[in-house]
This record gives sequence, C-alpha cells and structure tokens, in this order.
Amino acid sequence: MLYERVVRPILFRGDPEAAHDRTLASLQRVSRHPRLLALLSPLFRVGHPTTVFGLSFPNRVGLAPGLDKDGLALPAWQALGFGFIEVGTVTRHGQPGNPAPRLFRLPASEAVINRMGFVNRGAEALAGQLAGVGPLRVPIGISLGKSAVTPVAEAAEDYLASLRLLYRHGDYFVVNVSSPNTEGLRSLQGRDELSALLGQLRTEIETLAGEATPKPLLVKVAPDLSEAAIADALEVCQKHEVAGVVATNTTTERGGLDPRDAAAAGERGGLSGRPLAARTRDVVAFIHRESGGHLPIIGVGGVSAPDDALRLFDAGANLVQLCTGLIYHGPGLVRRINRTVRRAGRSG
Ligand SMILES: Cc1cc2nc3c(=O)[nH]c(=O)nc-3n(C[C@H](O)[C@H](O)[C@H](O)COP(=O)(O)O)c2cc1C
Repeated sequence: MLYERVVRPILFRGDPEAAHDRTLASLQRVSRHPRLLALLSPLFRVGHPTTVFGLSFPNRVGLAPGLDKDGLALPAWQALGFGFIEVGTVTRHGQPGNPAPRLFRLPASEAVINRMGFVNRGAEALAGQLAGVGPLRVPIGISLGKSAVTPVAEAAEDYLASLRLLYRHGDYFVVNVSSPNTEGLRSLQGRDELSALLGQLRTEIETLAGEATPKPLLVKVAPDLSEAAIADALEVCQKHEVAGVVATNTTTERGGLDPRDAAAAGERGGLSGRPLAARTRDVVAFIHRESGGHLPIIGVGGVSAPDDALRLFDAGANLVQLCTGLIYHGPGLVRRINRTVRRAGRSG
C-alpha cells in the first residue's frame, strides 16, 4: 500500500499528463540500471506461465497500450512483474496528438478520461527503440493505429507501413480500430472496412513471415459496439485467421460515475478504469460465447483489484491487461493479481 499512501498523493498533486511523463522518465532511468532491475525483479515477479496464440507468457497480467507508447521502459515494466507488455499505439508518422489538456482524473470513480490522440514518435522510431532493448523474458505486443494526417480511406497503407517496419521487433500485433480519439478510426470496425483491412494485413504478415509461422495478429474492439456489431467483427476476424481479440478500448459512455467527478465527466474522450469493468466483462463473455471459446481473448478494462481479473478469466479471457488500475494502485496491483490467480489455480 506504499503506492496508495505515499506515491499516489504526490503524483496526483500535479497535472495528470506531467505526472505520467515524470513516472515514465523514472522508469526509463531504472531500465538503464541492471543492478536496480535485479533488485526490483524478485519483489514483483510471480510466475504462473501459460501459452496463448502460440506464445509463452510467464504470467497472465500485461501492461495495456497507452502508458508506454514508444517502448521507452520495457526492462522496468518487466521488473515490475508484468507477464507481457503492449507498446503503442504507434502510427506510421510520428505525431504530437491533440492539444493539452487531454488527460483527466476522476478520482472518486477511479477512472480517467483521455483524448491523447495517439501521441507517439512514429513506427520508425519505435523500431529503433525496440532494436536497442536487450533480450526480455516477456512477449512484446505492438499496437498499430492510423496516423491523424492519413484519410480513413487510406488507412490500410498506414497500418501496413508500420507493420513492415516493426514486424521483426514484436511478438504479436494488435490492429487498433477502437480508439475514440482519432477521427473516423472506429468506422474501421464495420464489417466491410474491417475485412478489407485485415485481408491486407494478413497477406502482408504471411509475406513478412516467409517460411516461418506468421506472428499473431489481434484486433482490439470498442466497448460501445452492439452485440450484433461485435458478432460481425468476430466473423470477419475468423475469416482472416485473426489470432485473438482484445476487449476492450475506452468508452465514450459516461455511466457509473461518482457524482463528485461530474466536472471532469464532461470532458471529451475515452473513459477508462473502474466504471468500465462490468461492460468489459460482458463483452469478453459475449466474445467467448460467440466464438465457442475458440478465439483467445485479452480482457482489458477496469481491472482495479485481483477479483476483477479473476472475473475476466471466468468470463473467458485468457490474458488480462492493466492501464488505469496501475495509475490508481501502482505495480503492487500486478503482484496482488498474479498471486491471487496463482493461488486460485488459474494458470490458463
Ligand atoms: C492515457 C491512456 C492512453 C491510452 N492509449 C491507448 C492507445 O494508444 N492504444 C490503445 O489501444 N489503447 C489505449 N488506451 C486504452 C487502454 O489500453 C485500455 O484499453 C483502456 O484504458 C481500458 O483499460 P483500463 O480500464 O485498465 O484503463 C489508453 C488508455 C489511457 C488511460
């Protein structure tokens, strides 16, 4: 509870984005000190290995994309006990994102609203960064998005260019068509649009793989899709041999918020954190049911306690990711979830 009592009050005193940047800079410094990493690692590491879409994971709790978009602190995240790390969302062109302020805390609801808009240094810079990281014990996922300057009609070429630059640096890839902060992006979840995009990405992955087994390609969906729209997307995913689905991204809905957060609740952007937990669980359960349990699922949204993770596994998730829960509870949450999951015998 050191994080909640000491670290969080200090971080929460200032601007949310500045606090995030400072934290990431610290983790980046930690990443350069093997001795510090070696000290941290035994404090946080909890193993309960599993294999999902052909990859071995030392445990089932991952870092969700958004907190380390440029892959700056991978050794530190690994030392903090994550069983996999997803970087990005990265776009073909580096971009500054939306004007600030663009990140808002809703503390009484344990939630966050963001309209960052894929702030990142671009696919080429990420490839350079990942090439310089030493060997890691955990799989690295790369979330791919569309650059703001690219019209939606030309989105496929944007994703393909990033994929080509990054293919050899990632263990799995996620097609992000579900962020609410890039104009028109979510329209790529439509049956025809998704099918055209996935068809091209799938062909490209097979070319890039050559004789080797193609690396897993996943699709991340929004929590705001109807069941019919999710069913359509799943059909398309199965047609294009997608390896799994990530459910879910942030929501544009504002249900379940504490009235004390009313001022921030009016901000535009995607809501994440505790209020998303129930919807995420429903979407995970629906995908599990609809796919007959055959499509691996990464459950993400509102995991703020070990029980949330257990319930996502019960709903059908094979892996879970954290984002906002980490902001409110720190890395001790990763350890607590991993210990609980191991005790409960849910090793996948
Ligand atoms: C500040 C912030 C930035 C995010 N950026 C991304 C992103 O770039 N790509 C993405 O797929 N999801 C992004 N997300 C969404 C998270 O990965 C996750 O799907 C969502 O926040 C729900 O999980 P949570 O409730 O644990 O935060 C972001 C979330 C936050 C709070």
